[in-house]
Amino acid sequence: MDVNKKIEELKIVPVVVLQDKKDARPLAEALTEGGLPVAEVTFRTEAAEASIRAIAESFPDMLVGAGTVTSTEQAERAMEAGARFLVTAGFNRSVTEYAVQHEIPIFPGVCTPSELMLLLEYNLTVAKFFPAEQYGGLKTIKALSGPFPNMRFMPTGGINAGNIREYLANPKVIACGGSWMVKDTLIKEGNFSEIRRLTEEAVNLVNG
Ligand code: 3PG
Repeated sequence: MDVNKKIEELKIVPVVVLQDKKDARPLAEALTEGGLPVAEVTFRTEAAEASIRAIAESFPDMLVGAGTVTSTEQAERAMEAGARFLVTAGFNRSVTEYAVQHEIPIFPGVCTPSELMLLLEYNLTVAKFFPAEQYGGLKTIKALSGPFPNMRFMPTGGINAGNIREYLANPKVIACGGSWMVKDTLIKEGNFSEIRRLTEEAVNLVNG
């Protein structure tokens, strides 16, 4: 599967923090039923690896990736668990090299021209622009697109139902990452019906 193409089609990548692997399946179900069979499961918690495994096993058609990856050891664990792409919050040379060597799709986090130059060393053409809103949002994407015309972006950080359409209208934006439909509080409360509702709302919004 062409991961970039799939992410571009789906337009949104939910960024998830799971404290307990028992929440992985109901979360994946809510996202899938809401029309968004994709998730970046962040390695910010101990439950990340087991959650990726649970989603990959129970929802083989879902595009599950690992986020906030900070080491090759984590990247290996994520891939072994069934992740199909890697995301890093900033540029990490060893994780990037590992991904490129193993032909694993990776979206390194960048917010400056210097970081984009590092991506060029590896012929990577899609970056996670993070944290997007805090680093100037669309204005910065437009400015970066001048000297880096072949680069495309997955802005993440501060994106929500109120501003996502504006981001997606820019052809340099492949998709947006965000946590607004998978908020920690909703997961903690086990409110998967609300996650499904917010997901559906987001899908309708970006396809409307
Ligand atoms: C991330 O790690 O990508 C962010 O936590 C997502 O940002 P958001 O919570 O502002 O959507």
